[in-house]
Amino acid sequence: MTDAAALTELTALVAPAHVLTDPASLQAYGKDWTHHYAPAPSAVVLPRTVEQVQAIVRWANRHRVALVPSGGRTGLSAAAVAARGEVVVAFDQMNRILAFDGVDRSVVCQPGVVTQQLQRFAEEQGLYYPVDFASSGSSQLGGNIGTNAGGIKVIRYGMTRNWVAGLKVVTGTGELLDLNKGLVKNATGYDLRHLFIGAEGTLGFVVEATMRLERAPRNLTAMVLGTPDFDSIMPVLHAFQGQLDLTAFEFFSDKGLAHILARGDVPAPFASSCPFYALLEFEASTEAVSEQALATFEHCVEQGWVLDGVMSQSETQLRNLWKLREYLSETISHFTPYKNDVSVTVAKVPAFLREIDAVVAQHYPDLEVVWYGHIGDGNLHLNILKPAAMDKDAFFARCAKVNQWVFEIVERFQGSISAEHGVGMTKRDYLHYSRSPEEIACMKAIKAVFDPNGILNPGKIFAPE
Ligand code: MLT
Ligand code: ZN
Repeated sequence: MTDAAALTELTALVAPAHVLTDPASLQAYGKDWTHHYAPAPSAVVLPRTVEQVQAIVRWANRHRVALVPSGGRTGLSAAAVAARGEVVVAFDQMNRILAFDGVDRSVVCQPGVVTQQLQRFAEEQGLYYPVDFASSGSSQLGGNIGTNAGGIKVIRYGMTRNWVAGLKVVTGTGELLDLNKGLVKNATGYDLRHLFIGAEGTLGFVVEATMRLERAPRNLTAMVLGTPDFDSIMPVLHAFQGQLDLTAFEFFSDKGLAHILARGDVPAPFASSCPFYALLEFEASTEAVSEQALATFEHCVEQGWVLDGVMSQSETQLRNLWKLREYLSETISHFTPYKNDVSVTVAKVPAFLREIDAVVAQHYPDLEVVWYGHIGDGNLHLNILKPAAMDKDAFFARCAKVNQWVFEIVERFQGSISAEHGVGMTKRDYLHYSRSPEEIACMKAIKAVFDPNGILNPGKIFAPE
């Protein structure tokens, strides 16, 4: 908790209007998209400059106040949740694009730049920022970097990490580090930049990022294919990857599609219904590419891997097909889902999913399970929906119990218990299923270097000491 004198001091560092303590702001800024924890920050501070961020961190060290960084608060692991009287540092006021270099194809951004703002800026320059996901309209770049956000184009473009050419961060002692300075080649020892990417604000706060841009894709075209079972999805992936450079390869189950169609604002891809669907995308830069895609589709039908399919013929059709996948998270959020975000190497996906599905069917026979994910990169999202009548805490407790079996399978397959949603608070007790005790000890030692007083986002990734 933060006492009144400390708050007065904090207010003097920024401006009275940039420290919020009213209940509505505390409620709004204290949470992310998880439903597990009740927000309870003691204040929210909105810095406008790098120097103010440094001053806030030094203030927090003097008063031993914990700070929680906050961007678009679209996270799904409670990494940006302030539930224990922390002060939230929200980057809404640091939301400008500062510089662009057309030769380097790089853009310097403040952390509060919204993902879509960066995507649109890139488009205006005739370029492309390829990290994309359903929450790009509200997620902020600082949060994307803090969680190494992935999304729907990872199969072609990789995660956020691939696009960070330089980072300025304020560490837990208030030092400003200027890391890599936009260089493509820089063989001067440890690349500290990468430690801060995916660190969930536990090592430092991102105050500026130099992001790389890419050439714009040409004539993006999507196909949605219905498959008779899950096992058919992987040969379909191999068949298409053998012929085309895919920009995406996603999947979802019939249950997921049913929720989307129930909204009433997204057309069905085709009349027949199938147990599973794959959504793939490629650049149809020439007529020959489209013909190749159709020939591959026909091959998949002949093999019995695909029952039905559709290919977009316009921008509108492309957007509508993507809605089938992109609207899933928001659509099922009304059912308070318990979310698992697991990954294995792509070759292991079929055996992995079969085992997890068996455990889930055994332990949740009465609960609705919705599968979807970025199967082209080995990342599966398992969502268990809460029955309306079931108490939230009882539901989460039951899911947590089954987690153990799910994560034992993840461990056996040498996979990840969190492919892209992060650890935060929801997965911290399970970290050992993916990271060895030696690795966790190294991670804690690194934390102690950058944040010796445990000021930055304590209780995230690791349980509070
Ligand atoms: C997605 O792939 O839609 C996002 O990771 C969000 C989610 O899993 O719900
Ligand atoms: Zn995802």
